[in-house]
Amino acid sequence: MPAIVVVGAQFGDEGKGKIVDLLAEKADFVVRYNGGNNAGHTVVVKGKKYKFHLLPSGAIQGKTCCIGAGVALDPRVLKEELLQLGGKKILLMIDPRVQVIMPWHNFLDAVAEDVKGKEKIGTTGRGIGPCYADRADRSGIRFCEIVEEKRLRERVEAVFPLKEKILHAVYNSATDSLDKEKIIAEYSALGKEFAGFLQDVSAVASEALEKKNLVLFEGAQGTFLDNDFGTYPFVTSSHPIAGSIFTGVGLGLRKIERVIGVAKAYATRVGGGPFVTELHGALADKIREKGAEFGTTTGRPRRVGWLDLPMLRTAHRLNGFTEIALTKIDVLAGLDEVKVCIAYQNNGEKVKELPADMRCLGDCTPVYKKFGGFEISGKEKSFAQLPKEAKDYIAFIEKELGVPVGIVSVGAEREETIIR
Ligand code: GDP
Ligand code: IMO
Ligand code: MG
Repeated sequence: MPAIVVVGAQFGDEGKGKIVDLLAEKADFVVRYNGGNNAGHTVVVKGKKYKFHLLPSGAIQGKTCCIGAGVALDPRVLKEELLQLGGKKILLMIDPRVQVIMPWHNFLDAVAEDVKGKEKIGTTGRGIGPCYADRADRSGIRFCEIVEEKRLRERVEAVFPLKEKILHAVYNSATDSLDKEKIIAEYSALGKEFAGFLQDVSAVASEALEKKNLVLFEGAQGTFLDNDFGTYPFVTSSHPIAGSIFTGVGLGLRKIERVIGVAKAYATRVGGGPFVTELHGALADKIREKGAEFGTTTGRPRRVGWLDLPMLRTAHRLNGFTEIALTKIDVLAGLDEVKVCIAYQNNGEKVKELPADMRCLGDCTPVYKKFGGFEISGKEKSFAQLPKEAKDYIAFIEKELGVPVGIVSVGAEREETIIR
């Protein structure tokens, strides 16, 4: 039963969209299992750039795109995204259990960040945290409840007064722009428009796997933004790690053929939180500019740093990678030297994985190994065509992780990829 999971090995934005698009050629279904439109997945084909926030990145390859129960879906954004595809027909299925992002979620996200001040997470402001909090609290609204106006009204009538009260009483925030009747009208119109997409994705994906169809699971965010295993509290509110396909789609435990950890050849992070290998100054600016490291969703400049092997070792433990897709190695080209963090120094002790208590991360300093600089044109078609220093860099990563690097991405274009 061929199942492939594509999962971010770092802090998100590793290039998952590009890898999913590439692999989607042979897939039958591409399924999102976590997150919402906090994600921004880029696919570049023949100079045309597509940015996906909710639609799985298999859309351009014309594959059946599924949004699993574990996703938080903002129907306003889905509408925009479908419009951007300019009438291209998308085979889309949305699970009835999907949680819907309501306007009060965006509101609550913004005010919570405001109140936290210096301690803010630096969220994408898309209402993700409040939406998942409501799911846990059992006051969320599911996709199957917006497709029928009567049901939507009942749910909004039940939930809205509490949200208003919280915003007023706890956050002292004006809620004039949250008009209950307008929300019901807008969401029931969207619900009607999308009613045809309603499908039990759990059943569809399970049956597809039984029939030996190739199902590609597209992770959003990255391992260290996982709500349990990331750098809590500087994380997202869903579970990006590979194991969460079972709960995020609704599958029985089964063997997964490939778990592809997408890792950038260096590291980036958007928003707050610890980042042991972070760079500052001219070198950081150079890498940021060359790698176009500005958020796909929010446009914020991404923090940049050297590749962090303690993080990748931990990511391997958490996800069980069968291979790594190493992206953006071309961005490191032209530097005098390239560094890799092989361990952390923590109060005189050498640590080879991420500590479970995130507080220790603040005391960790990176231990680096240096590699010679190299040139990459993006035209390389095989591993053999890469310069020796780049090959050494990749071989070192493989040896340290005990995982093969099966895909090397040397540019943003679909074609600029080496498959070994
Ligand atoms: P995702 O969220 O993991 O899908 O990644 P994003 O799309 O947010 O960010 C990755 C960025 O790097 C996008 O702009 C991609 O087009 C680009 N990209 C992906 N792979 C490569 C690569 O190998 N080289 C270069 N230069 N850019 C790449
Ligand atoms: P993709 O799928 C990078 C980060 C935010 C913030 C934290 C919490 O494109 O890799 P949230 O809005 O989820 O409550 O924000 O998580 N974040 C991402 N960073 N890539 C993403 O998605 C992200 N999605 C959320 O910047 O630090
Ligand atoms: Mg992204």
